[in-house]
Amino acid sequence: MSAPPLLHLQQLDASYGPIQVLFSVQLEVQPGEIVALIGPNGAGKSTVIKSIIGLVRVLRGQIRLAGREITGMATHHAPLHGIGYVPQGRILFARMTVRENLEMGAFLQQDPRERRRLVEEVLDQFPQLAARAQVLAGHLSGGEQQMLAIGRSLMMRPKLLMLDEPSLGLSPKYVDQIFAQLLVLRDQGHTLLMVEQNAARALEIADRGYVLELGRNRFADRASALLENEAVRRLYLGGV
Ligand SMILES: Nc1ncnc2c1ncn2[C@@H]1O[C@H](COP(=O)(O)OP(=O)(O)OP(=O)(O)O)[C@@H](O)[C@H]1O
Ligand SMILES: [Mg+2]
Repeated sequence: MSAPPLLHLQQLDASYGPIQVLFSVQLEVQPGEIVALIGPNGAGKSTVIKSIIGLVRVLRGQIRLAGREITGMATHHAPLHGIGYVPQGRILFARMTVRENLEMGAFLQQDPRERRRLVEEVLDQFPQLAARAQVLAGHLSGGEQQMLAIGRSLMMRPKLLMLDEPSLGLSPKYVDQIFAQLLVLRDQGHTLLMVEQNAARALEIADRGYVLELGRNRFADRASALLENEAVRRLYLGGV
């Protein structure tokens, strides 16, 4: 028998209070993949991510992590399960330095020496942050803040890293840098589930993609096939 996917959503229904927003959503992420979740505003992309980490109520269906059911888990257990989450809007501690923000990312690590070692490891991966380690996070550019948000999520050594709109609001130069960085992470063996408005760019770096519309699966395929799919291009990639 082959190993189960790292993440497997089966027939997931989810709601905000009485309002159902996900309908029988299916999604798989294999170890070492970048999977892009795209679709129009309000399609339910963020809700998919939030339902995985228990921020949204799951009505029906199952969420499995490496075969183990985690449906409806408490949000604060996500890091223990090896799930990293970079929310939309790169929420940081603005009045703490880059280094302090990274240290906060390893809050479960009791040993201060080990925590410092992890900080150095992440700074090695993000030279731009290393140069600004003593700068307050609130003084960084948007792109640097996004790097820091990603770096901080890596401090827990997640098995699965989920990113909600990592390129949102960034200048083109930083969008390029963020996507390049995500590819580096994939090449290092990380597994990424990414929600992106910037659908074409996301599919260019992803292995596979899912298109969500009105809370339902619309297309699912290899990213290169989605990029060539005429309906996907017309409806979701700006007709390019
Ligand atoms: N906290 C909330 N309470 C009630 N409804 C919500 C809440 N958050 C989102 N919704 C609704 O759920 C639906 C899906 O929203 P979601 O944020 O998942 O979409 P999205 O695909 O991430 O959109 P966007 O591209 O705008 O980020 C939308 O109709 C939205 O209005
Ligand atoms: Mg969203």
